[in-house]
Amino acid sequence: MSHLPIKSDFTRALDDGVDGTLASASAVAAAAPDAEPIIVFDRVFIAFDDNAVLEDVSFHVDRGQTLCILGRSGVGKSVSLRILMGFLKPDSGSVRVDGKEITGYTEDEMQEVRKHITMVFQNGALFDSLSVRENVAFPLRERGGLDEEQVQQIVDRLIGLVGADDVVDDLPASLSTGRRRAVAMARALASQPEVVLYDEPTTMVDPIIARRLGDIIQRLKRQLGFTSIVVTHDMRFAKRLADTVLFLHQGHAAYFGPLAGFLDSEDPHIREFLTLDAYVLPGV
Ligand SMILES: Nc1ncnc2c1ncn2[C@@H]1O[C@H](COP(=O)(O)OP(=O)(O)OP(=O)(O)O)[C@@H](O)[C@H]1O
Ligand SMILES: [Mg+2]
Repeated sequence: MSHLPIKSDFTRALDDGVDGTLASASAVAAAAPDAEPIIVFDRVFIAFDDNAVLEDVSFHVDRGQTLCILGRSGVGKSVSLRILMGFLKPDSGSVRVDGKEITGYTEDEMQEVRKHITMVFQNGALFDSLSVRENVAFPLRERGGLDEEQVQQIVDRLIGLVGADDVVDDLPASLSTGRRRAVAMARALASQPEVVLYDEPTTMVDPIIARRLGDIIQRLKRQLGFTSIVVTHDMRFAKRLADTVLFLHQGHAAYFGPLAGFLDSEDPHIREFLTLDAYVLPGV
């Protein structure tokens, strides 16, 4: 079995992250302007029976950038993430990760891709019978090649990064939703992915926890050069995090581009979405 090396920048930036200071710029992978985006959706279609969910959806994410996927309930936001993880196959179109076409990949080939792309599930998907510490250690033990002291060092840093130091020996069931999600992030990071997908990270958590989760995502981007895709209903959250926005509406990418262009858009569906957001908190 081959072991992935622990990247030196990864551990160094984790140290800096615990101190709350910025890591050296070298930790952030600067993409060349003409580099192939790390994620590409090109004319993707998917239907369930006669329910056409994505019809000709294209977007991309450059390395080190954060894309927020927005849109009303049922529009295909989670489906898009599941296609990227290979849990669903599109009916047609191309999905490329780091330049490689993944639509025809077998489950074994997808396992390789999932070393680079990981998803933070809404419920945290933690192992109930393992402590927070053991949950975060799990991916490190899985990948092998580390002695116990190294595992514990990295686990301590990750837990510090997400602010869960005081619950390391607790079981997931005793944690609040926000805490569970923070621990789930720490565990996702332990596998050293390059791309992290978040499905509604702020649903069911209070605004202070939401802010903290947003801080973590920002810090991962600045200090470790992570690429993120964040599905959210929360416009405040999106405004803080997004470099680019994909707005899905009736199966189409009604908007894909920089955040500023989305906020200024004259499209009536986007205006309605933004206006409604000012009055209600969907999903609560
Ligand atoms: N495995 C599946 N089988 C059949 N239909 C599915 C499946 N997964 C998703 N769908 C349908 O696809 C549509 C889009 O679902 P999706 O979960 O992506 O919505 P969403 O945009 O994430 O909505 P929400 O904001 O409520 O989470 C829905 O109509 C859903 O019922
Ligand atoms: Mg969803």
